[in-house]
Amino acid sequence: MFNFDELHNRKNTNSLKWDQFKERLKLKYNVEDASEILPMWVADMDFAIPQVIVDAITERLNHPIFGYSYVSDECKNAIQGWFERRHNWHIETNTLMFHQGVVPALATILETFTKPGDKICISTPVYPAFFGIPSAQQREVIECQLVAAEGSYKFDFSALEEQFKAGVKVYILCSPHNPGGVVWSREDLEKLVDLCIQYDVLLISDEIHADIVFEGYKHIPTMTVKNADKAKIITCIAPTKTFNIAGVHAAIMVVPDNELRAQLNKDKQAHGRDDLNVLAAAAVRAAYEKGEDWVDAMTAYVSSNMDYVVEHLNILDGIKVVKPQSTYLIWIDYRETGLSESEIMHRMLEKGKLAIEPGTKYSEAGRGFLRMNVACPLETVKDGVERFKRALV
Ligand SMILES: Cc1ncc(COP(=O)(O)O)c(C=O)c1O
Repeated sequence: MFNFDELHNRKNTNSLKWDQFKERLKLKYNVEDASEILPMWVADMDFAIPQVIVDAITERLNHPIFGYSYVSDECKNAIQGWFERRHNWHIETNTLMFHQGVVPALATILETFTKPGDKICISTPVYPAFFGIPSAQQREVIECQLVAAEGSYKFDFSALEEQFKAGVKVYILCSPHNPGGVVWSREDLEKLVDLCIQYDVLLISDEIHADIVFEGYKHIPTMTVKNADKAKIITCIAPTKTFNIAGVHAAIMVVPDNELRAQLNKDKQAHGRDDLNVLAAAAVRAAYEKGEDWVDAMTAYVSSNMDYVVEHLNILDGIKVVKPQSTYLIWIDYRETGLSESEIMHRMLEKGKLAIEPGTKYSEAGRGFLRMNVACPLETVKDGVERFKRALV
């Protein structure tokens, strides 16, 4: 029904992953000619998006006028329906607020509710915007490292509590976790929510990876755990990772607290922001109304890509990989190779001709790891694995 094996040529499409990376590699690693390098880095997929989304955008394009618009009730109901069906989470549609992306939403939330010098706490390693945005806004970033546990990560709740006691204003949660692919347990989320209540910390729950979860695991929206209604929580959700439409630019903040919503509305007015553009709104509605089969099939395909990578990389000297519980990103532990990050990156780029992410991109806590994106046809994954092997001999 869906053909995830099909190879699509993304070169010369203004793709960050396939085109712009050459400039970055030149600047950072002195790579002169990146034409033979296979990109398995930034988090988008090399799969064609669901036809139902293309059809919805095309249908909208067929009307020749693109005047001012608003997000329809049908679109909001589609969002509500998806989270109800897929995540057992009932969202009131009047609590939805729209933004161009989860990253700009994080920036807006931090700007609205904190001031320069305030402490923003995160658990590292983590998606770089979590420290990049607060630093750029002159907030103080408090890093609490996650604790490695059998190829996965756990929270260090006593360290978190120490930090919260010292006056943290906001905690940003990545759930499921990028880059570790951890699906947090209900127990962990409850502990986190209780700590946020106890120390009056605003909890931002970035759940952009919620829909790509492998068999045996279940994503739990933070808003559905015990006491969540007593906490100050803003959840960021989006169809962009799930359906490979990051370039469409759309994200949703779920803000059940009336006071928080009022403040965010004031900020929206202050910055003259609008909701989704007409094409994004059409894409979001179609994705959440009609994209279910595609996501299930895509997740199964990515899961089997993961199995392939785990099987073939784990046999390499000094490399340890555990299948993640979610996301299409695989976190590769190379610490036992004895190579430094710059050594392994040069090997990957020069000998392997493979572009994957260095672990310290996710903070110092990621040193010793590489992140590989396996949301691509199996043929590409096999090629990537061969390149990885070549880099290490
Ligand atoms: C945890 C997390 N949040 C946000 C984003 C990006 O969100 P957006 O493209 O909506 O700004 C990513 C992309 O990889 C991510 O991993």
